[in-house]
This record gives sequence, C-alpha cells and structure tokens, in this order.
Amino acid sequence: MPIVEIRDLSKTFNGRKAVDRLNLTIEEGELFGLLGPNGAGKSTTVAMLSTVLQPTDGTAIVSGHDIRKRPKEVREIIGVVTQDVGLYDDLTAAENLAYFGKLHGVEGGKLRKRVNKILDIVQLKDRTKSRVKTFSGGMKHRLNLAVGLIHKPEILFLDEPTAGLDPAARLSVWELIKGFQAEGTTILLTTHYMEEADYLCDRVAIMDQGKIVALGTPAELKRSIGKLEVIEVKARAPKKLVAKLRKIRKVEKAEITSEGLRVLTPAADAVLSQVVKSLADEGVHMDSLNIIQPTLEDVFIKLTGRALRD
Ligand SMILES: Nc1ncnc2c1ncn2[C@@H]1O[C@H](COP(=O)(O)OP(=O)(O)OP(=O)(O)O)[C@@H](O)[C@H]1O
Ligand SMILES: [Mg+2]
Repeated sequence: MPIVEIRDLSKTFNGRKAVDRLNLTIEEGELFGLLGPNGAGKSTTVAMLSTVLQPTDGTAIVSGHDIRKRPKEVREIIGVVTQDVGLYDDLTAAENLAYFGKLHGVEGGKLRKRVNKILDIVQLKDRTKSRVKTFSGGMKHRLNLAVGLIHKPEILFLDEPTAGLDPAARLSVWELIKGFQAEGTTILLTTHYMEEADYLCDRVAIMDQGKIVALGTPAELKRSIGKLEVIEVKARAPKKLVAKLRKIRKVEKAEITSEGLRVLTPAADAVLSQVVKSLADEGVHMDSLNIIQPTLEDVFIKLTGRALRD
C-alpha cells in the first residue's frame, strides 16, 4: 500500500518550474531517496509534501490525507528535518526534545520515555543534561535529527541529512537513519550524494530540473545503463579535455567531476591507452586511475550528460 502518492505535483517560482508534474508513490516502510543536483527541485518537493509550501498545481496524498485539503492532519503524522538546525542553544538536549514533543502534543510520562529512547538512538544519552551550546557540530546534527522523530511520525522527511558532515559523522547518521526505518518509519530523504542514495535507499528517483529522469532500486538503475564500465581518473583535469575524450572511439560519455573525470565506455580495455595519452598530451598529472562498475553518478551522467556535482 502506498503511504505517499504524489500526483502531478508542480511548483512554479516566477514563471520557472522548480517541480514539474511530479508523479511518484512511496510504499509504507520504504526508505525512498530523491537524488539530484543543486536546484533539481528536491527541497521544494519536500516543502510541499510537508505543507510548508503551497503547490502551484497537482497534489499529494500523505497517509490518506490530501496535502492541500488536510494540511493539519498531514502535519500531525509527519516529521521533518531540514538543514536549518532549529535547536535552542540555552536548553539541554532533553529540554529541546521535550519542547518539540509538546509542540506535537506528546506529554507526561509518554514524553519522558520517548525523550530517553530517542536520545539513546541518536547516541546522546550521556549528554542528556548538557546545554546544546556545548555540543559539537555533529552532536547538534544528531539532536536535530532526533527532533524530527520525537512524536514518532509515520513518515519522516529528511532534506539532505548528511550535507556538510565529515565521512565518519556521515556513516553514523546513515546508521541512525537505518534505525529509524527499523522502528517502522517510512522515510523520504533527499541527497546529492550518490553513495548515500545507493547505500541507504530501497528505491531512488533521480531528479533533474523538476522532473524524475529515472526510478528504481539502486541495482536496477545501475543495470539500466547497460554493459558500461567506468574509467575513473583522479586528477585536476581541465574542461577542454572532455571534448578530446569524447572523440575517442567507443567512449560513450566523458565528464569532469569534483575529483577528476569519468569516462563511460562499453570497452574499457580498448580505450584505456587513448585516455591516458589524452591526459599526457594535456600535461595532466594523475593521482589514480581505476576501472570500476557504474555508480548512480554514471546513471545520472548517462541520462543528462552532466555530473551530479561539478
Ligand atoms: N522560494 C523560492 N523562490 C524562488 N525560487 C526558488 C525558491 N525556492 C526554490 N527556488 C528555485 O527552485 C529550484 C529548485 O530548488 P530546490 O531548492 O528545490 O532544489 P534542490 O534540489 O533542493 O537543490 P539543492 O541540492 O541545492 O538543495 C531552483 O531553481 C531554485 O532556485
Ligand atoms: Mg535542497
């Protein structure tokens, strides 16, 4: 049974379509990912689903409630965590959670129990009585996630839950999110980290310019681009190299990424020497070169001709 049904959901800002007739269903208990580059429309989608932003057109049914006709009912059963940390610095961890719990109508012994459980889940039990202003960035981040869960929502919206975290903190948040799902919460998360979508999500919708360009399990998406291999080069590569690489026979796509470049080809062995020669001709020093299986990044490159991050 779908718990979220998005129907032709659209948002236009000043004549520009930020979300363009989005259709999507999310199943109960699913951990669903919206993966896309900056400006794809992920946050706008989450803002509409959480009834903070009015759609221009279309609607969504969230656990039986229409977001346009029953926003109050929708707000009662969802949890929302955005990047803006909304914690009170002068309150302790427990006080912050209690405050937000009360806002959601959780009270008394039930609230105390829930606060304790959540602090345990986000590994802040030993800091229950510390003021938030004494917390590290990572601790604040975990407490902010906890706030979204205090009222035991049926559905949790996480907008870029690991943006700006270092790799260790990111791993710990990933485990937290898995724990939330294990508690029975349906989760919609947005991310522009393909590893995150790949590792965490049951299904992923790849979004670009307000539209879904691909949808499936991470494995399905990777299979969908056919028998391609990726030559991944870590190097500081100039943009003009791309044009050269694309001229090599059997190179399907070539893109500069934040770490270097990626060349998609059905025959890595055959094109490898020419790729290396093109780099050498441009005087590019390589930090490493690997032939790897396609990732969700390559699915995005194949579909849009651009890198997720550039
Ligand atoms: N309040 C607003 N007013 C005008 N334009 C907006 C507003 N909010 C978003 N947009 C525009 O809508 C488009 C989608 O933005 P959105 O924030 O949904 O993208 P995103 O996928 O969340 O990107 P990011 O990865 O950078 O968070 C962008 O072009 C953005 O400039
Ligand atoms: Mg966003």
